[in-house]
Amino acid sequence: MAKVRALETERDNALFRDPLARAFAAAGGRWPASPPLSEDEAARRRRLAVSFSIVVRTRFLDDLLREASASGVRQVVLLGAGMDSRAFRMEWPGGTRVFEVDTAAPLDFKAEVLRREGAVARCERITVAVDLRADWPRALSAAGHDPTAPTVWIAEGLLIYLPEDAVELLLARIGTQSAAGSRLGLTLGSRGVIERFGAEAAPGSAAALWVSEMPDDPVRWLAAHGWEAESHTLRERAAAYGRPMSSPERREERPGGLISAVRR
Ligand SMILES: C[S@@+](CC[C@H](N)C(=O)[O-])C[C@H]1O[C@@H](n2cnc3c(N)ncnc32)[C@H](O)[C@@H]1O
Repeated sequence: MAKVRALETERDNALFRDPLARAFAAAGGRWPASPPLSEDEAARRRRLAVSFSIVVRTRFLDDLLREASASGVRQVVLLGAGMDSRAFRMEWPGGTRVFEVDTAAPLDFKAEVLRREGAVARCERITVAVDLRADWPRALSAAGHDPTAPTVWIAEGLLIYLPEDAVELLLARIGTQSAAGSRLGLTLGSRGVIERFGAEAAPGSAAALWVSEMPDDPVRWLAAHGWEAESHTLRERAAAYGRPMSSPERREERPGGLISAVRR
């Protein structure tokens, strides 16, 4: 993820700029970014398609967060935050608190890179080391999250790694912590993506760990969880951002449905 964001940051017409991404990629041994040595054409296309989807969804969720801030939301929860550097790279209104939830190992890795880079958050940033299969709402509350005030929740590149029952439980728990006016940004694996991408993924790669795809009707699914949702396709968002899908991406189905939702 960091490597893809670092490459995007170098583009003249970047859809976002993530100045820390390069340091994260380097710390993970992924920079300088060179393509894998033995990569066939199909694997190359899959890699480009996944990279493209990461770029578009990052921009989609940046916009969603800006809209949430503009609507007055001051609590942000990044679920499975990983190397998300939004606390450092985006403008936040005064009083914004960003909670980064992930397990201890990635948060420790991140902290070390941030320390070396001398990175300074542009908001109040709170890390919460907890497994999302455990009672994370309790850990989040203990860290200062206020469920009576609206929250914008982001689950970017996360749900595809969780089995269906874990996704349901996560959504139910998010619901119990979401005051009216809360927002939600999700990325979902599109139908069939695991068969097309995961099945051929190299062992140990991210795609080899994909287990869950989006429901047939994500808007109805989220309505049942109390959210008024809109579903966007990568293709539509990419065109809206002036980065229409081009060859070879056009020939591949995109991984990822993009969801924005509001709690009334
Ligand atoms: C593909 S990364 C995406 C990271 C980040 N959202 C981004 O877009 O850059 C998935 C993240 O989810 C985290 N994750 C996966 N399963 C988790 C779990 N059960 N509990 C907490 N975090 C988890 C991983 O540690 C990883 O950082």
